[in-house]
Amino acid sequence: MFVESIVLKRFRNYDNLEIEFSEGTNFIVGPNGSGKTNILEAISVAANIRSFRGAADSEMVKWGEESYFCGLFLGDSPFRQIEIGYASSPGFSRKKAKVDGREIHRVSDYFGRLLTVIYSPCDILILNGAPELRRRFFDAILARIDREYLSMLGEFRKILSSRNRLLKSIADSRGTEAELDVWDNMLAESSYGILKKRMDFISSFTPSFRDAYSGIAGGDSVPSLGYQCCFGDLTIQGINDKILGLRKKDIAAGTTTAGPHRDDYILYHENGRLFSACSSQGQKRTASIALKNAERISIEKATGERVVVMIDDVFSELDAERRENLVESLHGENQVIFTMVNTGSLDTIAFSNARMFKTGPSGAVRAE
Ligand SMILES: Nc1ncnc2c1ncn2[C@@H]1O[C@H](COP(=O)(O)OP(=O)(O)OP(=O)(O)O)[C@@H](O)[C@H]1O
Ligand SMILES: [Mg+2]
Repeated sequence: MFVESIVLKRFRNYDNLEIEFSEGTNFIVGPNGSGKTNILEAISVAANIRSFRGAADSEMVKWGEESYFCGLFLGDSPFRQIEIGYASSPGFSRKKAKVDGREIHRVSDYFGRLLTVIYSPCDILILNGAPELRRRFFDAILARIDREYLSMLGEFRKILSSRNRLLKSIADSRGTEAELDVWDNMLAESSYGILKKRMDFISSFTPSFRDAYSGIAGGDSVPSLGYQCCFGDLTIQGINDKILGLRKKDIAAGTTTAGPHRDDYILYHENGRLFSACSSQGQKRTASIALKNAERISIEKATGERVVVMIDDVFSELDAERRENLVESLHGENQVIFTMVNTGSLDTIAFSNARMFKTGPSGAVRAE
């Protein structure tokens, strides 16, 4: 499946934009602030109903307007058109999703029809940021490829918040410690299920990540990926014992201090040191891109579908060789849309089936 064309109305800096993409490689090139990322954002909205930048719908409506429309025509697909429309007036807003002109009411019936992965400069936060960002990154992939994991995670969150409520009420003598037993058992069982899925996933994800890293970095040493678990003994009984051992600490803290919600994914340098602490900006950028490549491969393996790849100007910290390796590694079977401020030394003519678009002032986009 690929994006044949896009139609945007009153979206960000675009009043009315139509672009016909190549089924292969596409370059969107233009100065800062000319609307390159906005085009990728629009594709992410049409594919996933929401912005990959986390923007509210009202922020994506062109200033001074009250509604936006993002429509995609798809090639090599059982359905031709997917579209999202949003309209607001004071005290009221409405968002509609349609497939081939028919309104879709359930998010789960719309989501996942067009598979996309977007590489963004913010991905560096997966390496540099708080553990929560890494958990969120991996949870999102797992939830996309395994629906059972998504419902297990929902169940875990419910148990965790009930247990946390009880811990607080014990601290101010409204609840009793004996009431914790039932929640501890449920937490141990639920944690076990989640941890097992995460461990299995990491063992299949890691080789893709390492291959992707060496594919871009050439001879540079390849980092390894590990899961840092709060629990040592990964059996339901072992987890239960650990939770029980932490009971006093949890009551004092008024929260559950150990579990899958506190675990972390760690990248290690070949020398055993933390990758985030001993690597250069370019090496971290390479690792963040390799994480995304491995995400794409995981989704393709699980669905048997090709993913549309969007690369939002992640080149600035890469040297020329890594930059070329990245572009070459992506040019091929997938549809890829790159944005960049300038093509620099990149020989874009060398890419067969490639199309180039130039963004300019006031929402002008020129196909070259
Ligand atoms: N709701 C909106 N209505 C109109 N214009 C908007 C709106 N939101 C953002 N813009 C404009 O969109 C432009 C930013 O677009 P975008 O982020 O796509 O730029 P870019 O080409 O990716 O730039 P960079 O190279 O710096 O990443 C800004 O000029 C901003 O003023
Ligand atoms: Mg941008």
